[in-house]
Amino acid sequence: MTDSPDQAPGAIPEPSRHELAAAESIFGGRIETARAFVAHLASSGIERGLLGPREVPRLWGRHVLNCAVVADLMAVDTTVVDVGSGAGLPGLAIAIARPDLELHLVEPLERRVIWLNEVVRDLGLDNVTVHRARAEQLVGDVAGDYVTARAVSALTTLAGWTIPLARPGAEVLAIKGRGASDEIEKAKKVIRTLGGGTPEIIVIGDAVLEEPTTVVRIPVLIR
Ligand SMILES: C[S@@+](CC[C@H](N)C(=O)[O-])C[C@H]1O[C@@H](n2cnc3c(N)ncnc32)[C@H](O)[C@@H]1O
Repeated sequence: MTDSPDQAPGAIPEPSRHELAAAESIFGGRIETARAFVAHLASSGIERGLLGPREVPRLWGRHVLNCAVVADLMAVDTTVVDVGSGAGLPGLAIAIARPDLELHLVEPLERRVIWLNEVVRDLGLDNVTVHRARAEQLVGDVAGDYVTARAVSALTTLAGWTIPLARPGAEVLAIKGRGASDEIEKAKKVIRTLGGGTPEIIVIGDAVLEEPTTVVRIPVLIR
């Protein structure tokens, strides 16, 4: 980022001018909650190893804003299951941006779940439930209109963890990088076997973010 303000070591990162404009448009009146989330990530999130210290200058752009724009793909008053939430990405970023959505965060590691519950409580997010489980263990118990994931696994494996948590007519929204089309190619067959339709790559947030977000969207036809 060229216009990032200087940060003292250990300080809570301030968004750059560009990131602030994006945050205001994405979070609206909930921008202070987004700031509090970034403060948690930069302090206890780093101390407890949920993110590496080198991520601190990139918390706004590469992490929170990049994830929050995925909420633009979601209809009002729907349910979202976020698989492998880790430090609440994208789940908590979406929950802050969209209080009308019901979020289920799925994370197997106990220390991450403890941290997620602390943050959810501190931010007063009453639209979030944290499940300590692997995605495979929740099939039949939790289902969403959207199933999200970022940096959890390659699509061939991720399809088997996400599609079974999607309601019929729902969508898997996997945040991916440049290798998205190769991953789709390799996962096509397993996606079809699991009841998924034709995956598509969509790029979102280009109007507000310096680096927009690439999402693989998989419609779920049957379950
Ligand atoms: C690299 S981290 C990514 C965390 C977060 N989504 C992000 O983008 O920062 C992957 C997370 O997936 C979780 N995970 C691994 N296998 C899983 C499974 N089968 N079901 C749910 N979560 C899983 C791990 O515990 C870890 O927190």
